Amino acid sequence: MSTRWTIETHDTVTSTMDLARKRARAGAADGLVVVAEEQTGGRGRRGNRWESPQGGLWLTVLLRSPDALDPLVTVAGALAAADACSRSTGVDVRIKWPNDLYAGGAKLGGVMAEAASRTVLLGIGINANVSAGRLPSVEYYRTTSLALEAGSPVGLVELRETLLEELEVRLAMVSSGDPGVVEEWRARSLELGRRVVASRGAETFQGVATAIRDDGGLVLDVSGERVVLMPHGDVTLGLLGKAGAEG
Ligand code: BTN
Repeated sequence: MSTRWTIETHDTVTSTMDLARKRARAGAADGLVVVAEEQTGGRGRRGNRWESPQGGLWLTVLLRSPDALDPLVTVAGALAAADACSRSTGVDVRIKWPNDLYAGGAKLGGVMAEAASRTVLLGIGINANVSAGRLPSVEYYRTTSLALEAGSPVGLVELRETLLEELEVRLAMVSSGDPGVVEEWRARSLELGRRVVASRGAETFQGVATAIRDDGGLVLDVSGERVVLMPHGDVTLGLLGKAGAEG
């Protein structure tokens, strides 16, 4: 295990984001990783609740380097999580733009970032061994766990260690401006080449996702007539099907 990370484990917390924020305010160093077996008030992006029963991997990484504010840090988190899941189980894990983890067409996990006291808190949640009955039921998409996709439980400590190993590599790539991060993101993308519906504020567009730009924006070809850029960070996206197919 790399010396970059200091792991703090808990049985039950409200949210690892909140605890990591408290640690940041108290001056905790770069590389602290707050891990919990269960969260009673887990949070997702856009103020959503994040169900976090036992069996999942729930953690927040505290990052203090100046480049931690780079928006690609959340992408680094998603790539690290996706790679760790694939390496541990062989399951094909995809990234739904911008940083949701998907397997078998269902949401497996998610990544979020928050700023706190000149620090970035990178939160990663994976439904690793969450049983089918404890998976959240969400109106707009299906949810799954790694164990369900793989057909057998995954070692949580091994998954966490692999994830942190992968994260260290990806963060170094972000720091050095390595274009490989965006290239890997494209290769892991769930929607490139597929029909999507995207909402930006009050506007909704249907089209084929044709590219992820170097700045993280998603490019949509709307009915072959015009190209629309979805800026990274402020778009809701739904999948419709393969390009060329109806629906
Ligand atoms: C998303 O909305 O897709 C992002 C979900 C992030 C959930 C993780 S679980 C660990 C950390 N603690 C939280 O309360 N949220 C993040």
